[in-house]
Amino acid sequence: MPESFTEDDAVLGRVIYQYNRFVNPGLARLLAFAGYGVEQRAEGCYLYDHTGRKFLDCLGGYGMFGLGHRHPRLIAAAKQALDEQPMPSKVFFSAHVGALAEKLAEITPGDLQFSFFCNSGTEAVEGAVKAARAASGRHGIISTHGGYHGKSFGSLSLTGREKFQKPFEPLLSGVKFVQFGDAAAVEKAVDGSIGAVIVEPIQGESGIHVPPEGYLREIRKICDERGIVFILDEVQTGFARTGDMFAMNHEQVVPDIATFAKGLSGGIVPIGAFMGTPKVWDALFGENPVVHTSTFGGGPLACRVALAAIEVIEEERLCENSSARGEQMLKGLQQVKNRFPELLSAVRGRGLMIGAEFAIDDAAELCIAQMVKRDVVAAYTLNNPRVIRFEPPLTINHAQVDEAVNVFGEAVAETAELVAAVNA
Ligand SMILES: Cc1ncc(COP(=O)(O)O)c(C=O)c1O
Repeated sequence: MPESFTEDDAVLGRVIYQYNRFVNPGLARLLAFAGYGVEQRAEGCYLYDHTGRKFLDCLGGYGMFGLGHRHPRLIAAAKQALDEQPMPSKVFFSAHVGALAEKLAEITPGDLQFSFFCNSGTEAVEGAVKAARAASGRHGIISTHGGYHGKSFGSLSLTGREKFQKPFEPLLSGVKFVQFGDAAAVEKAVDGSIGAVIVEPIQGESGIHVPPEGYLREIRKICDERGIVFILDEVQTGFARTGDMFAMNHEQVVPDIATFAKGLSGGIVPIGAFMGTPKVWDALFGENPVVHTSTFGGGPLACRVALAAIEVIEEERLCENSSARGEQMLKGLQQVKNRFPELLSAVRGRGLMIGAEFAIDDAAELCIAQMVKRDVVAAYTLNNPRVIRFEPPLTINHAQVDEAVNVFGEAVAETAELVAAVNA
């Protein structure tokens, strides 16, 4: 028992009790182990807990806080929507759906033209899979080991981690998994049942893996030759995260379907979307315009904030900042790796989507706790707990990147000491 029990302790104790009794006891243990308190408010690149302690956010809500926390332009757009109409009747035309869809068609490459709006990444993937089946007339899908596409049934069937899939089988049939980054493996897996290939342009939750140059172009070629629908899952990579508005732009590849969420609304309201070419849209909606729907999807609140978020990304030149600060961070983290070559096995990424991989199990978790102790928020990747991800707001500045790298260096040093003590 602590010598004196403060009001702050009572606040945290109450929430931990509620998590244990009414939310998820295992999750309560995980969060407490990492050293997190109760989050209270957020601004820019910083989060504040129930004691008023300030944390630099290097996780960015798993990539959703592209514009930092509570960007004033997004708050203004949200307030205006709340004052006028936050949710739609669904039977009138919506100027906000039209405007956001037109903007997305303008900023995405090639003939990605039509948009469907939903509320999350997994929902965007569900819609994409239905569209691909409608367009190809075949049910088989090629996905990648380590790939992450969400946890609802269709998306989970494509998420390449046994730990998440096994308890819920049987999942969608006809899904084949191949090695990420190997286009020849895709070609080899194609048979008469395959109607779609889905990949992330950079795998996020597998531990931030950038594929070899030309990978996406080769998949595009295979899909064209075999009449297969190419789905690019940009849920995590989209909206300047990797230094370009979309990661597909790095290889100048245009898929038949693209999925988005996370950064689309700058983290103010939930929104997801999938986009498709006229051919895909005709196959999906040609005979029945309401064959795929969502009650909440495409609400004015979400669409207005998303449109403002895209304008801010353009006006504040966040692609450039993501690229420059990403290079600075990658270089700094690589220097830390060079100091601890036995504990850190790799540092890799693009833009502000960077992973630092530990050579042994559980070290990343220990290191995260050390980072939290030093007021930096971090987490590991969902399909690879050996990798700490760095996905800060794209508004992060030079000094904040230096701070994050220094803290990571100190946290790795302390982790190395802890590991040595355990092994002694
Ligand atoms: C590439 C990718 N697709 C889909 C999803 C699922 O998104 P959500 O958690 O919003 O359902 C994620 C989430 O991390 C993701 O990274």
